[in-house]
Amino acid sequence: MATVSPLARRLLAARGVSLPDLRRRAGVPDRCFPTGVRLNRLCGPDAWFDEEWMQDLRDLAIPTHLIHRKAFEWTHCVYGLRRLGALRPSSVVLDVAAGHERLVFYLANRVRRIVAVDLYSGHFLDTEESEADPDFLTDPDKYAPFPYRRDALVAFPASGLALPFRSERFDAVISLGSIEHFGGHDAAAAAMREIARVLRPGGIACIATEIVLRGPSMEEMFAPDVFEEKIVDDSGLIPVERMDYTEPPEELFADPVVIGANIDRNPHIVMGFRETTWTSGVVFLRKPRDVEYLRLWLAGGTVRRLSGLSRAGRGTSTARPSDAV
Ligand SMILES: C[S@@+](CC[C@H](N)C(=O)[O-])C[C@H]1O[C@@H](n2cnc3c(N)ncnc32)[C@H](O)[C@@H]1O
Repeated sequence: MATVSPLARRLLAARGVSLPDLRRRAGVPDRCFPTGVRLNRLCGPDAWFDEEWMQDLRDLAIPTHLIHRKAFEWTHCVYGLRRLGALRPSSVVLDVAAGHERLVFYLANRVRRIVAVDLYSGHFLDTEESEADPDFLTDPDKYAPFPYRRDALVAFPASGLALPFRSERFDAVISLGSIEHFGGHDAAAAAMREIARVLRPGGIACIATEIVLRGPSMEEMFAPDVFEEKIVDDSGLIPVERMDYTEPPEELFADPVVIGANIDRNPHIVMGFRETTWTSGVVFLRKPRDVEYLRLWLAGGTVRRLSGLSRAGRGTSTARPSDAV
């Protein structure tokens, strides 16, 4: 498990305590901040009524009248990273499957370095937005929506399934609207473990993906329980707050956006195909520091009782052998 150091791992192993036990003890608050837009949530038009959130949208040079889930993903990522203190001038940020999204230019103006990786080949060369166009690597200015610090942006081809970086390299890692395209739910889980590995302890990950609202799940999206398992639990990271699955307003379900039919609809929030509807969800996760694990370990009694339960086979059934320390 890449989320704890070898020292912490040895100490935990000595007590037979598993990481899932400790993560459960670490606790996930209902809300990270008492006011403002919730961080871990589905896309909804209410965000456009929050003045602070709207300022981030304007700073990204996104037209204010477009109530679009991509605008939500980008703006909400900035809003959360900023509120969580992850956008410092000294920060080094990784964007996995970045394509040429506007966030990289925004981040280039606010952090020490933004590293963008993507396959820059394959299916997304030929989509309407040609997100994976490799000319971004040689001529990023072509895609810049505003002036940016060219020397702060580094971009090169790499797969999210095998990130070519040493562990604990980045202060924040983001991946928006991409992980669902990595080759299935297990591939997404593998990518999440890579993201957790390269994140430094105390660092923040922000993931946006497609969440099923109603109807049967389909390829390249996540029903909420699968999202919790493959994106959240398998990462080994801890959500900064409980994920809120409150649906967008009912009227958006009556006539959803259908690819190939009314893709330019505004608001563009609830997508539909046959019986299935879906929208974007964003989750912020943090990588605990060793000291947090050790504090829980030292708390002793509770953890010992928990580990005793696990050893007796009465722990929660979600713990897998690979999670054991
Ligand atoms: C829908 S686009 C999103 C791009 C960008 N994040 C955005 O929001 O505009 C999905 C991106 O995922 C990339 N991608 C797919 N599989 C990947 C993988 N295994 N590793 C890295 N990038 C991948 C594609 O090349 C494409 O650029």
